[in-house]
Order: sequence, then structure tokens, then C-alpha cells
Amino acid sequence: NLMQTTLEKYMNNIVLCGFMGCGKTTVGKNIERITDRKFIDMDAFIEQKQNMTVSEIFDKYGEQSFRDMEFEACKELAQMNNLIIASGGGAFTFERNVNVFKGIDKIVLLDVPLEAIKFRLRNDTKRPLLQRPDKDKAMEELYNKRLPLYKSAADIVISGKGTPKKTAEAIV
Ligand code: S3P
Repeated sequence: NLMQTTLEKYMNNIVLCGFMGCGKTTVGKNIERITDRKFIDMDAFIEQKQNMTVSEIFDKYGEQSFRDMEFEACKELAQMNNLIIASGGGAFTFERNVNVFKGIDKIVLLDVPLEAIKFRLRNDTKRPLLQRPDKDKAMEELYNKRLPLYKSAADIVISGKGTPKKTAEAIV
């Protein structure tokens, strides 16, 4: 049906934001399964372009260069539509990235309590910001600093405490 096709074509993106380990990627893949939207993971998108992992980018070029790549990825992805995008945990803490999506795409904060995040990330080796001896304290500080930024960026706040499937359904 032409009407439906036209509507779908111009559907704006759903962008998941929230702290590392809140489930953006897993929930995003679950949304892809129950809608006609294509899932894109922003970190994976950057990794493909650079042909390096996020850790390698941090090691080789430093965090600031990663943030610039992330900003470019935001701009590129915002030009597409009908996507479900999992952002990186730092993306929505920078106003320039928020401004790229704000008012156009639906920004969804996946809200998960700090204690659950700490547990989920206890054995993580892939996130450069957490590879340090005082990991729990670093997470706590970052979390408290970032939560208000995520909240002010988001159009909708959804609890990410349940199963990824249930959370995906709630978002849809
Ligand atoms: C980051 C989160 C990571 C990744 C990079 C930096 C952050 O994404 O973009 O390690 O600043 O919180 P996830 O949220 O997928 O862990």
C-alpha cells in the first residue's frame, strides 16, 4: 500500500541513549526483530569505518579523536531514517550530538540503576573508560554526572531493568 510505504519511508529514527551497560545494543536488536526498522550500533559503525575497535581508537588516537568520530557518526546516521540506533554511552553527554538528533528523531533513555550497571560490567574488558583499578568509583562518578544530561536529552525515559524483549516492546 503506497500510503503506508510513504509513511514508513519518512519515519524518523529511534535513538537509544544511556550509560554503558544499560542494554542499548541488546534492546535495539530486539526492536529490530519486532518492527521493520533496521538496527545500527553507533560504536560498530565507527569501528567499521576506522577498521579498528573502540579500544584501539582510544589507544592510538585518544578519547578526543573518538569523540570527533562519534560526532561525525551522529551526523551521518541522523540523515538516514527508519533506523533504530544504539548510541555510545558518551554520545548524549555532548550537546553537539544531542543537537543533531533533537526535535527530529525520538531519543529514548534506557534507565538502569547504577548497582545493576556495576554488576553487568564487572568483567568488562571492552570499554576503555572502565579499564582501571578504581573502576566502581569511576563508574559512580560518571553515572552521577551523566544521568541528568541523558535525562535532559531524552524525549522518553524507559526502564531498562526488565528483559530486553519486554523493554523493546515498551519502547515500540
Ligand atoms: C563510552 C561508551 C561506549 C563507547 C566508548 C565510550 C562512554 O559505548 O562508545 O567506550 O563514554 O560511555 P557503550 O555505551 O556501548 O558501552
